[in-house]
Amino acid sequence: MRIVVKAGGSLLDNNDSVREIVRDIVVLSKKHEVVFVHGWGRHLNRLSDKYGIRQKWVGKPRPWRVTDEDTIELVRNLVCGEVNGHLCFLVGEAGGKAVGVNGNMSKAIVAKELEYITWVEDGVEKKDWIGFTGLTKSVNVELLELLLKGKFIPVLASLAQGEKFECLNINGDELAGVAAVQLKADALVLLSDVKGFYMDAKDEKSFVGELSVGAVEKMLSEKKISGGMVAKVEAGLQAKKDGVKLVVLADGRLKKPVSEALKKTGTVIIE
Ligand SMILES: Nc1ncnc2c1ncn2[C@@H]1O[C@H](COP(=O)(O)OP(=O)(O)OP(=O)(O)O)[C@@H](O)[C@H]1O
Ligand SMILES: [Mg+2]
Repeated sequence: MRIVVKAGGSLLDNNDSVREIVRDIVVLSKKHEVVFVHGWGRHLNRLSDKYGIRQKWVGKPRPWRVTDEDTIELVRNLVCGEVNGHLCFLVGEAGGKAVGVNGNMSKAIVAKELEYITWVEDGVEKKDWIGFTGLTKSVNVELLELLLKGKFIPVLASLAQGEKFECLNINGDELAGVAAVQLKADALVLLSDVKGFYMDAKDEKSFVGELSVGAVEKMLSEKKISGGMVAKVEAGLQAKKDGVKLVVLADGRLKKPVSEALKKTGTVIIE
């Protein structure tokens, strides 16, 4: 089985969760092919505070990080190396073989520059600059398959290369979704710091175990989903529509979280 697992930046701050996720991935990789994608949102927030680089989000209901020159430099120099490097180290520590991959190498992850986004708020069309941000177009399937064949776990940082070879900030869920489709994965597991999808974002009790493609499309068009869940649900929806059999939004704080997700613990996107 080929599995793409994404761990949100929301989980990477918690050492116990990260070790548990990595251990589970390493165990699964002995029998299956596993690609590990990670975010870095919270890490960047912390670093930008430290360096006094103000972070700003625009857009509704999906918030986009305004990625100015200072921010992309921070992502490139610190987040990618530090977060990606640390995760690769942990994979090794758990007995696996990791290779860190980001957009700066061999067109491993390619995105289309967005620069501006538009959205409608209270009936008024708005437009804002989002800087060095991209929409994920492709992953280098040849490279990733070569790594998987060699029993390596590719660890993908959500950082892409643009058409003009510039470095672009991309969403990790979107990257994982594109990777799952292009690698023809059997499963896409999106781990975050919630049980899955909540009908009411603030109420854990409103968790749902299944969501149909139609229901997701309806909620998105009615703008009933907000925050980090928009990109997550959009990525899951697209992957499901493009043929990934099992798509689960799951809890990364559990014991053996990936194995649990493969048993459908979490919100499964169904046809
Ligand atoms: N309907 C919803 N159900 C569950 N969580 C929701 C919902 N709407 C918004 N959220 C929020 O989405 C968050 C997860 O998305 P977020 O983008 O913050 O993290 P991530 O995707 O795990 O990390 P990263 O973006 O760094 O990769 C949760 O912590 C939760 O607060
Ligand atoms: Mg997110």
